[in-house]
Amino acid sequence: MVRFTLNGKNIEYDGEEISLLRWLRYTLRIASVKDGCSGQGACGACLIEIDGKAKLACRQKMADMEGKNMVTIEGFPKELKETLGRAFVASGAVQCGFCSPGMLTRTKNLLTNNPNPTRQEAAQAVKPHLCRCTGYVKIVDAILLAAEKLRDGKSVEYDTHEIGKSAPKFQAYERAVGEPLFADGMYFDDQYLGALHLSEHPRARILKIDTSKAEAVEGVVKVLTYKDVPGKRRIGMITKDWDAYIAEGEITRYVGDVIACVIADKMLTARHAATLIDVEYEVLEPLTDMTLAEHSDIRIHESGNLLK
Ligand code: FES
Ligand code: FES
Repeated sequence: MVRFTLNGKNIEYDGEEISLLRWLRYTLRIASVKDGCSGQGACGACLIEIDGKAKLACRQKMADMEGKNMVTIEGFPKELKETLGRAFVASGAVQCGFCSPGMLTRTKNLLTNNPNPTRQEAAQAVKPHLCRCTGYVKIVDAILLAAEKLRDGKSVEYDTHEIGKSAPKFQAYERAVGEPLFADGMYFDDQYLGALHLSEHPRARILKIDTSKAEAVEGVVKVLTYKDVPGKRRIGMITKDWDAYIAEGEITRYVGDVIACVIADKMLTARHAATLIDVEYEVLEPLTDMTLAEHSDIRIHESGNLLK
């Protein structure tokens, strides 16, 4: 039994040995704590406060939480939460909002220890965070604006949706504080969950895909490969040049290429089974800018083969 507090509530935990992120997201369904890199500690999206320090929830184990005091954005004091969220909205620092709760938690932590940070200190503070869409200039602007308003005890104002005025992004405040659900945060009764098996090599010919071990795992409903896609497998917003699955005989183009997808009743089951898929590769030389610069006579056939 592990005892701790979360957002002011006393909790007794006697469950599976899982990460704190997994428990917050998938048991409590706290939307603001995002899973951006599934435990690699690389994105900052899962940042929460533990005993007053900013910590990555994906790197904490439930067993180590004894006696801890945890706070997510849902537990921030109301005025502080509003000032931070509104500063991000007013500065245009929220686009999709996936990184924003982690950024807000980082901002809270920074301003608690340093209420008047320099621009450089604010930039340094968000270095461990990945934002794929806003860019960091506006995020640093937002941190400095929040700091100023908190020091002055004033609220952050911004134009509302009026003709002739610049308007905040749709649902920007809700995104900033982590309320909207992304696909991974949506739950339905009796839903299945999927996990991908990705290419191990940036450039390799797939010789054989063996899904039998994954299919034998209890709870696995189906393992999808290229064979399950009727018609053309190429997808893309503008040009359809991205293979939805790589087939046997085809060549991968990066380590994110999908070889198979395991569908199971539980996420951990799907993820475990995805690791059991055996793929035989013929590893090839990756194509890099340097490869191409060194060989100006190389062209790439759509099969991924090099042509001279
Ligand atoms: S999910 Fe924790 S750092 Fe990315
Ligand atoms: S990742 Fe989309 S706003 Fe940062």
